[in-house]
Amino acid sequence: MRTSMDYISVLVLCFSLLLILETATAIDTINTTQSIGDGQTLISADGTYVLGFFKPGESKSRYLGIWFGKISVVTAVWVANRETPLNDSSGVLRLTNEGSLVLLNSSGSIIWSSNTSRSPARNPVAQLLDSGNLVVKEEDDDILENSLWQSFEHPTDTLLPEMKQGWNKITGMDWSLTSWKSPDDPARGHFIDMLSPNGYPEIQVMEDSKVKYRSGPWNGLRFSGSNQLKQNTRYTFEFVYNENETFYRYHLVNNSMVWRLVISPEGDLQRFTWIDQTQSWLLFSTANTDNCERYALCGANGICSIQNSPMCDCLHGFVPKIRSDWEATDWSSGCVRRTPVNCSVDGFQKVSGVKLPQTNTSWFNKSMNLEECKYMCLKNCSCTAYSNLDIRDGGSGCLLWFGDLVDTRVFSQNEQDIYLRMAASELGNGDGAKVNDKSNTKKMIILSSVLSTGTLLLCLAMVLYIRNRKQRRNRKVSGGFERNSNSKLRKENLDLPLFDLYTLAAATMDFSEDSKLGEGGFGTVYKGTLKDGREIAVKRLSKFSRQGLDEFINEVKHIVELQHRNLVKLLGCCIERDEKMLVYEFLSNKSLDFFIFG
Ligand SMILES: *[C@@H]1O[C@H](CO)[C@@H](O)[C@H](O)[C@H]1NC(C)=O
Ligand SMILES: *[C@@H]1O[C@H](CO)[C@@H](O)[C@H](O)[C@H]1NC(C)=O
Ligand SMILES: *[C@@H]1O[C@H](CO)[C@@H](O)[C@H](O)[C@H]1NC(C)=O
Ligand SMILES: *[C@@H]1O[C@H](CO)[C@@H](O)[C@H](O)[C@H]1NC(C)=O
Ligand SMILES: *[C@@H]1O[C@H](CO)[C@@H](O)[C@H](O)[C@H]1NC(C)=O
Ligand SMILES: *[C@@H]1O[C@H](CO)[C@@H](O)[C@H](O)[C@H]1NC(C)=O
Ligand SMILES: *[C@@H]1O[C@H](CO)[C@@H](O)[C@H](O)[C@H]1NC(C)=O
Ligand SMILES: *[C@@H]1O[C@H](CO)[C@@H](O)[C@H](O)[C@H]1NC(C)=O
Ligand SMILES: *[C@@H]1O[C@H](CO)[C@@H](O)[C@H](O)[C@H]1NC(C)=O
Ligand SMILES: *[C@@H]1O[C@H](CO)[C@@H](O)[C@H](O)[C@H]1NC(C)=O
Repeated sequence: MRTSMDYISVLVLCFSLLLILETATAIDTINTTQSIGDGQTLISADGTYVLGFFKPGESKSRYLGIWFGKISVVTAVWVANRETPLNDSSGVLRLTNEGSLVLLNSSGSIIWSSNTSRSPARNPVAQLLDSGNLVVKEEDDDILENSLWQSFEHPTDTLLPEMKQGWNKITGMDWSLTSWKSPDDPARGHFIDMLSPNGYPEIQVMEDSKVKYRSGPWNGLRFSGSNQLKQNTRYTFEFVYNENETFYRYHLVNNSMVWRLVISPEGDLQRFTWIDQTQSWLLFSTANTDNCERYALCGANGICSIQNSPMCDCLHGFVPKIRSDWEATDWSSGCVRRTPVNCSVDGFQKVSGVKLPQTNTSWFNKSMNLEECKYMCLKNCSCTAYSNLDIRDGGSGCLLWFGDLVDTRVFSQNEQDIYLRMAASELGNGDGAKVNDKSNTKKMIILSSVLSTGTLLLCLAMVLYIRNRKQRRNRKVSGGFERNSNSKLRKENLDLPLFDLYTLAAATMDFSEDSKLGEGGFGTVYKGTLKDGREIAVKRLSKFSRQGLDEFINEVKHIVELQHRNLVKLLGCCIERDEKMLVYEFLSNKSLDFFIFG
């Protein structure tokens, strides 16, 4: 009895000791007399972020970095000594009396420094904030702007919520992201994600010194060629352009979401969110990977449309500069005017639904209206196009282009118009309308009108079908649940076409065995062909699935918001009677797993 009591007290003592050790190794502030060495960490007050030493991927080298504290996969969001790795288990982080963070190797040499100095600094301390920002400040001064140094102002390859991307015009500070060399090597790689410094700013991914991708300029709602930024319930974004600074940043709607944006070693801009259920990162969008997003694919004055084959066309009033190249699908030589412009008597051709051309030679004015803008462009003979700067509330501001129009694309998700300078004889020549016709918006309208005419016809067929089948519960087919659920979906404003049951039944030959692609616990996947020839995959959720209508709508909303450009596209959905179906575009070389498991 006695011995077991002793045993227990020893255990309790051990545990308390362990606890003390634990708290001793994870601290939340360091001052000039403390340091962080191997196995020690600095942790943010709520535990979301941790600063310490880590080894990325397969690497044998050690780096001082910041990672997420509450998730199971060590994911670095910032690295101090990215160019000067530690080769052994040495290395200590210290804070100097001047407020400089220094990383020392085992022989006491400084291998990295924050290079801050304010002397004399009154009692400097370093703290890791709940936002993931490592801050050096004077102990009694909690105003972020007064801090001596912030890791958020020295980003590596990751943009966290609240972190600014852009530049400060007063301090000259440049907040751009630089990719890692490889997943094992945080040293500076080939790609930089930045806000362009010339003309009206836009996001640019540079490969060494060449542009690889650009987002299009900010139009008040989003960057004009970026559909990832459409309104959603997960994050909002802010764009600031004033005399002191230009930046862009994300704000999470719910701070419990774990989110990051990374420029990958291959130069892709990737947004990830952490999924607790699967304990893994979900890549929910990659900005720059469809073919039309390859910078200037169609050359000067060309326009790219992912729906067309070939993808490149010349802007209205322009013709290929070197026709033979163009016909051999080398579009890089671009297009030239068919009819030269004659300054005083030119007009403008409106082109709708585009990602605006590169703005590095642009001029802008926030307070002009479109009429003043047109006049401004007309009276300067080198102005080639104009548009509104901000498309909200019917449009405001003025953006002018000079010289060639580069990297324009058809971009339907967008209410963006541009007005191109044209010789009067080229105006309304049909080509401009051709560009318009290619836009998705029109296609959607046509598609939905085809669908609704089809629906009428199908309704007729349906009545016969129902009579034949004499199904029991079908008396209420045209009312009740079907209408309610569809209108409910519409009210949710999903921006996603609704397919009716009969269209899908027709496309899949009444969900026949022959058109079955596979089956899983959730239900069955069918291959189908729509009347317009498009091939689709229909995921028909099991009737026994206990998922309610609201959950289903939420799931669909989630998929739409997080839609990954490069994965199979969700074309629409269908909720009728007790059927719930998701309609994807069918890609013959995609694994069936995708349709089954998403
Ligand atoms: C640094 O922090 C430690 C622990 O909180 C404290 O004991 C020490 O007095 C501090 N030193 C200075 C210079 O503030
Ligand atoms: C670690 O080793 C690499 C390659 O051998 C060397 O370039 C680097 O300077 C070393 N780092 C330190 C901190 O000694
Ligand atoms: C520490 O860094 C210095 C300067 O980079 C280097 O000369 C020295 O060899 C390093 N010491 C160790 C033990 O890596
Ligand atoms: C700090 O300054 C030194 C010398 O000017 C420079 O080599 C080093 O790259 C700077 N460190 C940082 C993190 O800017
Ligand atoms: C720009 O900086 C100056 C001086 O710090 C300040 O007075 C002014 O309010 C700032 N402007 C904006 C728009 O923040
Ligand atoms: C934020 O998300 C968490 C977990 O998903 C949830 O429990 C919480 O209610 C959400 N908070 C708000 C304000 O929506
Ligand atoms: C430009 O237009 C004016 C007025 O119509 C005309 O006189 C002039 O010849 C034109 N110039 C060219 C190069 O077409
Ligand atoms: C704008 O970009 C084009 C294409 O990259 C380049 O040729 C031109 O020099 C740039 N102009 C300015 C002012 O940066
Ligand atoms: C912008 O346009 C407004 C209205 O036309 C004008 O008052 C203002 O001076 C212009 N600003 C610049 C910088 O040109
Ligand atoms: C036309 O605009 C360009 C670019 O802003 C400018 O350099 C040039 O002086 C302007 N020309 C006239 C006549 O206003």
